[in-house]
Order: sequence, then structure tokens, then C-alpha cells
Amino acid sequence: VNTIRYTDSLKGITADHLRGGFFVGWGDHPSPQTHLRILQGSAYVVLALDGDQVVGFINAISDGVLSAFIPLLEVLPAYNGHGIGTELTRRMLAKLDHLYAVDLICDPDVQPFYERLGMMRYTGMLKRNYARKQGE
Ligand SMILES: CC(C)(COP(=O)(O)OP(=O)(O)OC[C@H]1O[C@@H](n2cnc3c(N)ncnc32)[C@H](O)[C@@H]1OP(=O)(O)O)[C@@H](O)C(=O)NCCC(=O)NCCS
Repeated sequence: VNTIRYTDSLKGITADHLRGGFFVGWGDHPSPQTHLRILQGSAYVVLALDGDQVVGFINAISDGVLSAFIPLLEVLPAYNGHGIGTELTRRMLAKLDHLYAVDLICDPDVQPFYERLGMMRYTGMLKRNYARKQGE
């Protein structure tokens, strides 16, 4: 874990580097190829790398003016509890510091994790098209 490297570049990243088993608990989920397209389509990404394998990632979409949304944050189970998720989120929040609104949705059990990083609890609404769970 002390060999973890962080990057905000997708240079050299291929689907093969995303095969560690992301989207735990999703059932149907985006393939590594689709995962790469998600990252490529994001305004901002931060990756945690162990060698050339991606072991954690966070992405944000943004209008570049007022708001950003953080759709995904995940650290592979074998790497949990070592501060990687904290570091990914800290780096992403720093990147988004010029914007007014930075929003995300999470389960109540993860709220303390984000509170420690300076975020606040709120309520929201969402819609899900379950037939699109693997991505378009
Ligand atoms: C949330 C997640 C990214 C944290 O990554 P991580 O590298 O393990 O996080 P860190 O080591 O920086 O911090 C761990 C802390 O987060 C808290 N935490 C993380 N996931 C939690 C969960 N599901 N429930 C309760 N607490 C959680 C723990 O309290 C832990 O604190 P501790 O070290 O004092 O025990 C990781 O658990 C994960 O990928 N979970 C599945 C996907 C997910 O829930 N993503 C967030 C969606 S909004």
C-alpha cells in the first residue's frame, strides 16, 4: 500500500488496467471497457495505481462554471482501510475547489467518511434506469 501512486491522467490507462473487480455489489455493471469510457467522459478523474493496475478511482462531471457532481468513488476491497479513498476524495475536492456546488449521493453509512473531508449531509432525489446499469 505504500507503493500507491496517484494520477489525474488517463495516459497509458487501458481497460486491462481496470480489471481488478470494480463495481462490487452492483450485479450488472459496466465492463472494464465501459469503465474506461466513463473515465474518459469525465471532466476530472483521480486514479490510485499499484504498479500499472488501477486499485481506486474517483470521477467528477462538471459544467465548468458553477457545479460538479461526483458519480463514482471506489477502492478495491483488498486495498480498503488504508486511506486511499480519503486521498482520492481529498485530491478531487481540491480540483473542484473553484466551483460553488460539489454534490454526490451516498448511503448513510458512508456519510461520516465524507463529513471528515468537509462535506455536509443533505437530502436529494434521483432516478435510475436499471436497464442501463452496464452503461450505454
Ligand atoms: C468508501 C470507500 C471508497 C473508502 O475507501 P477506503 O480506501 O477504504 O477509505 P479510507 O481508508 O480512506 O477510509 C476508511 C474509512 O472510511 C469509512 N468507511 C468506508 N466505507 C464505509 C462504509 N461502507 N461504511 C462505513 N464506513 C465506511 C470507514 O469508517 C473507515 O474509517 P476507519 O479507517 O476509521 O475505519 C470504499 O470503502 C469503497 O470503495 N466502498 C464501496 C463503494 C462506495 O461505497 N463508494 C462510495 C459511494 S458514494
